[in-house]
Order: sequence, then structure tokens, then C-alpha cells
Amino acid sequence: MKTYSAPSAIKVAVVGYGGAFNMGRQHLNEMKAAGMTPTAVVELDPKRLEVALADFPGIETYGTVDELLAKSAVDLVTVITPHNTHAELGLKIAAAGRHVVLEKPMAITTEECDAMIDAAKKQGVIVSTYHNRHWDGWILRAVELFKSGALGDIVRIDLRMGGHGRPGDWWRSSRSISGGILYDWGVHLLEYSLQLITSPVTEVSGYAWNGHWAAQPDFPWAKDANEDEAQATVRFASGQRINLTITHLDAASDKGFMKIVGTKATHIIEWPGAETHTPQGAGKTIIERAPHPKGEGHKFYENIAAHLTTGEALVITGEWARRPIHILDLAMRSAREGKSLPVIYS
Ligand SMILES: NC(=O)c1ccc[n+]([C@@H]2O[C@H](COP(=O)([O-])OP(=O)(O)OC[C@H]3O[C@@H](n4cnc5c(N)ncnc54)[C@H](O)[C@@H]3O)[C@@H](O)[C@H]2O)c1
Repeated sequence: MKTYSAPSAIKVAVVGYGGAFNMGRQHLNEMKAAGMTPTAVVELDPKRLEVALADFPGIETYGTVDELLAKSAVDLVTVITPHNTHAELGLKIAAAGRHVVLEKPMAITTEECDAMIDAAKKQGVIVSTYHNRHWDGWILRAVELFKSGALGDIVRIDLRMGGHGRPGDWWRSSRSISGGILYDWGVHLLEYSLQLITSPVTEVSGYAWNGHWAAQPDFPWAKDANEDEAQATVRFASGQRINLTITHLDAASDKGFMKIVGTKATHIIEWPGAETHTPQGAGKTIIERAPHPKGEGHKFYENIAAHLTTGEALVITGEWARRPIHILDLAMRSAREGKSLPVIYS
């Protein structure tokens, strides 16, 4: 693989400069902070290209990724578009010999991830996924607690997000574009958990409830709407398990979005802080509450730059990013087929 003399020698571009969360600006700013050189923006919407030009005066702008690859000398391209476009764009970029970073989720199916990993290998470039949340303060703390032995062995992780309410009208509510209700936050929650449970996955069961919100007369996605609620149960060879639930139907959802049940303590992560419940015997439990440590999401692009310049090990490899996608892909298929499915990649 080609290495670079310094991070500034790595010319970077983004595909997608959407307005929902201004992610294009965030990526280019983080790439710049890691020492790389923002060079180009690709966006279908000319109005968003104007915003990009105002944010990064003089930056190259293109209407399509084909045009970028034909005309620009960029080395690394980050894809920040709706989920169903990641694989097609990622494959084009890798085939053109440029490094690829995909926003999460890496793609919708395992096969799409495989194709991108193979294409990148063939061209001698990297394929990674922007799992900036790998470094969220709450998961850094949970990993530290686990490694200190304070939680004991991890028995089960419960992941849950959502409540009762109509999903937004945006593309995230379309099953064919998003992949389904589990793909947005579910991929972050699984990526957190796979840092804590390292045993091979053996089986995934998926469950889904459909049709409630799709039946609303003015709901834009109709038959293509996401599930109202979906669940995945992941079985590991060790006997450990993960239960993931994302819902738009539960009017009384449980406390916290991540509950780690260990043999010595249970750790619950909520938005404002975390609680560690440590039993002392005789029915006594000490509950420690703590705010979250600061996140270190900037490490994502710092690691990419270090990998391409000094050969530092890549943290979010294509194979790592494929793990949660394989679980989500199997969960969705399992829900449709009404039975548990064995894994291919553990
Ligand atoms: N890591 C995080 O914390 C985080 C946060 C928000 C969004 N995301 C992810 O970022 C991605 C984009 O989400 P968003 O909220 O920015 O969406 P968005 O709708 O705001 O923006 C998507 C943009 O992509 C453009 N686009 C679509 N297809 C294109 C193509 N072929 N070529 C060029 N431009 C194209 C659209 O015109 C749009 O402006 C998703 O994968 C989402 O899950 C991640």
C-alpha cells in the first residue's frame, strides 16, 4: 500500500454534504484537524455544494463521484450518503485506487461489505467505516470497567432505543434506503458491544413488527416503511448474548440505552451518565453514578492518517465494520424467515 510522507500529503474528499446534521462539514473539519488536506466535495444537490464552498473556500466541487474520480487527484474519499448508496459508491472509489471511508453503517448486506473489502485489497487501498462512536466517553468507560475486572464476566448486554412515536418522514424511515429500523443507531450499539464481547457469534434471531406507522394515511413510505419495532438476539459461542431492540411502539421503554450485566456488577448507560450496581451480599447493592468521560471521536481520522503515514494499525478495519452489518443483515433475514440463522462470519 502507498504510504505518505505526512498527513498533509493525503488529499481528502467527501461524497454527500447533506443538511440533516452537517456531517460533510464535520468530516472535513476532523480530517483537517488530523492534518490531512480537504480537497473536494461531491454532492447531487447544487445548493449544498454552495454551502460546502462557503465552508471551505476554493475546494473542488463535483456533481457525481465519477466526475471526481476522473478529474481530481484525491487520495481518500469519505462517503456520507444514505445507506443504500454506500456499497455502489465505495466500490467505484476503491476500483479507482482511492482509499475509502464509509459513514456507518458500512453497507446494508454482508455481501456488499465483502465486495468492498475485496476491491480494496485488490487495489491496495484501505476500506474503513466512520465508527467515530467507537470512542464515545460512555463506551470507553465501560471497556475500562470491564478490563479492571469490576464487572466480572459479561453475561448479557441489552441495547434499546426509541419510544412510542411516529417516525420522521425522512429517508431514514424507508426500509429500502436505510436497511431497516435497526441500521441507524443499532449499528453503533452493536459496535459498542462487540468491543466487550469477543467470543465468536454463532446464531442470530430477528423479530419485527410492521405496518402500524405505515398505515397512517399521510405516511410517505407506505409499504417501504421501516419496521415499527425490530429486535435481534445474538448468541455467542461463550453463552453470552446481546439483545438489541429499536422501537417506535414502546410507550414505556426501559432505563438507559445499554445495560451490561456482569457476574460482579451491572452497568447501565443513560444519556446523562452511567450507573454501576455492585451487589455486596445480604441483599445490599452499592450504586455508583458518574457523568460520562469526554469522547475521543477525533481519534478516528487521527488513526487513519497515522495508518497511511507511519503504518499504525488501523482500528476500524473493513472486517471489523462488517461484524455488526453481518448481525443486522442476518437479523432482518431471520425476521422475514421466522427462524434463527447461523452466522458465516463470527
Ligand atoms: N456517525 C454519526 O454519528 C452519524 C451522524 C449522522 C449521520 N450519519 C450517517 O451519515 C450518512 C448520511 O446521513 P445524513 O444525515 O448526512 O444524510 P442527509 O440526507 O443529510 O445527507 C445525504 C446527502 O447525500 C447526498 N447524496 C445522496 N446520494 C449521493 C450521490 N450518489 N452522490 C453525491 N451526493 C449524494 C444527498 O444529496 C444529501 O445531501 C448516513 O450513513 C448516516 O447514517 C452518521
